[in-house]
Amino acid sequence: MLRTHTCGQLRKTDIGSEVTLCGWVESKRDHGGAVFIDLRDRYGLTQVVVGPPEANGEQIENAGKIPTESVILIKGKVAERLEGKTNEKLATGEIELRSDHVEILNTCATPPFTPGQNDLPGEDLRLKYRFLDLRRKEMQQSLILRSKIIKTMRDYFAKHDFIDVETPILGRSTPEGARDYLVPSRVHAGKFYALPQSPQLYKQILMVAGFDRYVQVAKCFRDEDLRADRQPEFTQLDLEMSFVDADDIMSLIDGLVAVTAKEVLGKDVKTPLPRMTYDEAMRRYGHDAPDLRFDMEIVDITAVAAKTEFRVFRGTADAGNFVRGMNVKESASKYSRRQIDDLTNYVKEFGAKGLAWFRVEDDGSLWSPISKNLDDAHLAEIKELMKGEPGDLLMFLADTWEVTCKGLYALRKRLGAELKLYGPDQLSCSWITEFPMFEKDEETGNWTAMHHPFTAPLAKDLPKLADDPSGCRAQAYDLVINGSEAGGGTIRIHDSKIQSQVFGLLGIDEATAEDRFGFLLNALRFGAPPHGGIALGVDRWVMLLAGLDNIREVIAFPKTQKAADLMTEAPGNVDAAQLTELYLRTVGIKPSTSE
Ligand code: AMO
Ligand code: AMP
Repeated sequence: MLRTHTCGQLRKTDIGSEVTLCGWVESKRDHGGAVFIDLRDRYGLTQVVVGPPEANGEQIENAGKIPTESVILIKGKVAERLEGKTNEKLATGEIELRSDHVEILNTCATPPFTPGQNDLPGEDLRLKYRFLDLRRKEMQQSLILRSKIIKTMRDYFAKHDFIDVETPILGRSTPEGARDYLVPSRVHAGKFYALPQSPQLYKQILMVAGFDRYVQVAKCFRDEDLRADRQPEFTQLDLEMSFVDADDIMSLIDGLVAVTAKEVLGKDVKTPLPRMTYDEAMRRYGHDAPDLRFDMEIVDITAVAAKTEFRVFRGTADAGNFVRGMNVKESASKYSRRQIDDLTNYVKEFGAKGLAWFRVEDDGSLWSPISKNLDDAHLAEIKELMKGEPGDLLMFLADTWEVTCKGLYALRKRLGAELKLYGPDQLSCSWITEFPMFEKDEETGNWTAMHHPFTAPLAKDLPKLADDPSGCRAQAYDLVINGSEAGGGTIRIHDSKIQSQVFGLLGIDEATAEDRFGFLLNALRFGAPPHGGIALGVDRWVMLLAGLDNIREVIAFPKTQKAADLMTEAPGNVDAAQLTELYLRTVGIKPSTSE
């Protein structure tokens, strides 16, 4: 070992000891006659003083020349800091190291930014110089938190008798709704492996094989539009169990949420976590991943709207559509007309045609530019339904079910953040259940699986597979944390005939089903037990538990919105010879080779 201690370790009790530290020069102050160095490693920061009587003039001069972020080794004696110079914010703030021996292990070129600087540079620069960015305390804390969360998860499942099995990265396509990343085969001309979008099919096969309780920290790959909470390559805590129902899986994960919150954040989470069906979530919050850190539920006033003379309300109700709104408590005075115009433009981005609003006045009456279009009796009914009180602001959308859901969900989310309706440390976890089995692809009009094609319908909805697919609900459950989908799973189809029926509904004909999923159908015919499971988005868990809103902050080497790694410059060029070997030729673009 080059060092005797880390930079976060020395305390008052070490005063007088001779020690050796190694680390990076975070900053340096030359006080003429003595050089102060803040020496940093992942454990902390220690102040080093190179000055008399320990060091001579030459040693002091040399220390002053060391470039910041160089790696050095320092030998010296631990001493108490001078009176008034202690730093309570630093764990090592009561001591300093007085040194006459500074050895440069490696110098640092002029860095484009330093880990200690207050103002962060742009994200692209941070990603390009990720080795510097990862020296920052915040990034180190994120990755340490990530490591802790994964360890907590592994320990939890080991305790519950789960077996960790690794599944292949080179395999067949696993449909999870995204495009595949493909890998050409050199040995099989013109054929491709697909990187797993999830280990879904392998884990089901493991159940057929009798493994009973499988778990894996699994890398998944999805070529899809990226957002702040999505990466093309991400990590799932993936598990599967036999002889269970949806309730068993949710209870097991309830336990994991409680243990993780306690161990990682020191927080108590009450279990069982609240559960709500998909229909209820859409009705009350307009979305299947509602943020339950604050109230502001959606209320349907279509029945009153239908009785009014107000063209927008009445017309909407008559057309069989909906007038739904929210009570923004105590906010009438917080939004000016201009700000409400802003909100109106905002909901229009989600397809709404306008935003109708009312202020509850001090005398309890409703005021709005449109209130002249409404009778007092109807206004009173609206106020009653909305539980309006003086000072409240009531906002409504009149539109189709889908547009009212989308618009009000977006508005609720924005208002929740704007009005600070939740605190930074608040944690709200819940389950959304009974999702529809299928949704219509807007472009093609075909049915697609809302979760994935291996999901079992609710037993009572099984007959609907044949005659009412849109009304058929799934044995599906999503875990939602603070309004983000943090996990999703289902009970699976274990009967090959039902599986074939679902493939048929999804427009996958028999020959295609045999070609793509023959191995699964085959396994289901060979004694498949009832089974189900779930996958948790590890990156999202870490992001949410760390209180961050960008998934890249919890991944060591993430990709940009355009799926590029700015540090390694992946995806990169390849030799023409490599392409030839793989029977590939680039078409329509200049050949992308490194010649
Ligand atoms: P699903 O597709 O819902 O289910 O994925 C499970 C969880 O993985 C996370 N996740 C992502 N995280 C970051 N970047 C992405 N691109 C990304 N995509 C998904 C989410 C999500 O809830 N095989 C099924 C699970 C099962 O049925 O057991 C599956 O993959 O947090
Ligand atoms: P208009 O008569 O179109 O000028 O609309 C009168 C008021 O109703 C304006 O404040 C609009 O923003 C609002 N409004 C119009 N269409 C809708 C709608 N579909 N839903 C809610 N409010 C609307």
